[in-house]
Amino acid sequence: MLHARLEVDPGTAIGPVPRRIFGTFVEHMGRSVYEGIYEPGHPTADAAGFRGDVLALVQELGATTARYPGGNFVSGYRWEDGVGPVASRPVRLDAAWHSVETNEVGLHEFARWASDAGLELMYAVNLGTRGIAEAADVLEYANHPGGTALSERRAADGTPEPFGIRLWCLGNEVDGPWQIGHKTAEEYGRLAAESARLMKFIDPTVELVAAGSSNAEMPSFGEWERTVLRHTAGLVDHISLHAYYEEWDGDVDSFLASGAGLDRYIATVAAIIDEVAAETGAAPVGISVDEWNVWYQRRWNEIDKPRVMNGDWPAHPRLIEDEYSVTDAVVVGSLLISLLRNADRVSMANLAQLVNVIAPIRSEPNGPAWRQTTFFPFQLTAALASGQVVRPSVASPRYETAKYGAVEVLDTVATVDDSGTVTLFAVNRSATEELALEALLPGAGLRLQRASTLGVPEGGDRHTSNTATEQPVAPRELAGVTITPSPDGASSLVGATLPALSWTVFVFGAASDPSHSDETVASRG
Ligand code: AHR
Repeated sequence: MLHARLEVDPGTAIGPVPRRIFGTFVEHMGRSVYEGIYEPGHPTADAAGFRGDVLALVQELGATTARYPGGNFVSGYRWEDGVGPVASRPVRLDAAWHSVETNEVGLHEFARWASDAGLELMYAVNLGTRGIAEAADVLEYANHPGGTALSERRAADGTPEPFGIRLWCLGNEVDGPWQIGHKTAEEYGRLAAESARLMKFIDPTVELVAAGSSNAEMPSFGEWERTVLRHTAGLVDHISLHAYYEEWDGDVDSFLASGAGLDRYIATVAAIIDEVAAETGAAPVGISVDEWNVWYQRRWNEIDKPRVMNGDWPAHPRLIEDEYSVTDAVVVGSLLISLLRNADRVSMANLAQLVNVIAPIRSEPNGPAWRQTTFFPFQLTAALASGQVVRPSVASPRYETAKYGAVEVLDTVATVDDSGTVTLFAVNRSATEELALEALLPGAGLRLQRASTLGVPEGGDRHTSNTATEQPVAPRELAGVTITPSPDGASSLVGATLPALSWTVFVFGAASDPSHSDETVASRG
């Protein structure tokens, strides 16, 4: 058995939990929208055609934000196609995903659904095939109160009150040669700056996200951020970072260390933000990790993409519907730990995506909807992280990985709220050995309210997944957690054994806080 110790000192808190880091992403691609959230004729569909069973799971997931409508899709999208009477909306080619887009769902329908789901809408404008004028038009259409052609058109289209969308992405992955309207950093930096300037003239309350790198391996990574940030200094509020992880050739040790990769990626972008802020005098922008997840991209690029991109032009084909294993869920939990650990720099983040397409929720046409393995760490982190984020001091064994060098076996972060509740998130990255954990937590007489762990289920292995018919993977209670007073009586000493390859959340209530009954915690998550 391995052994690790940690200590949580609330005096070292790095800031509040940014609720927007529990965002998600709905792109018009594959079966994300059509047959995902929207399926008229499904037994649970409402009058507008949105599935009730999927909506209930989205609400249970507890995400805060939904980025929409893309993704690669947005770089060829005409927003006007998705407004006005549905019967007269055009069917278009979607060259990004070699599909046809029927435009049955557009801004009004999605905004209504997002509001039902409790999600803040984050809208992406097309800076691929389009530019400043169209970005300004869709903003005026969405947010201007009335009295202009575009705002009156919105009212005539069924929504008299402005949508009031605060968050806007200036294009998507423009650094990638796969992107429709791919640009150099200079070209994009100028376009983003002038779009931002006009958008803030129209609505100074918007928050704008410039597109950063598509991944940390892009040859332009670093120089891209520097150039774009110089052009957009003082005009944008965030810069994006996209990060997908997968297990390569059975190298589970590196895969389980993906959070260490994300930490380094964020640290590099943060350093460039500081460098440009010092140079320009503009305030440092936040980092919007606006696409992150486990995605078996190698399979997509080498097998599925060549087939999809040369075939027919179907409507909502099955695209990148990765079925997630226990290992994938542990990595997703670890990536959430990394996002929290970097809460002083990460202003928001979007799990990409929400339904069917590399998603925590899956659905079948005219059939069931279910939770993938990755649903659980996301849901529990969003529900239970509260108050201030604390990076515990950690003494953990380390192990060598081919991809990231030596990393700690214990991956952890904590939150502490005003009532003294301590929430601890912990991943045991060892694929083979249990980890005995000793944790010194602030507050005497802490009471255990919850210890939920996600790992290999009875009779399964690390590849076990949930399917339409069987869902063996779900969190279970971690038994054997001990709490004793610390030698000086001021803190609590917790002991627990983390199973090999597992993600765990512990919630400890302050002895003095009557509001933290077990029922309160149960209803939070
Ligand atoms: O989320 C799937 C795709 O991944 C998005 O369309 C794109 O932005 C990224 O490459």
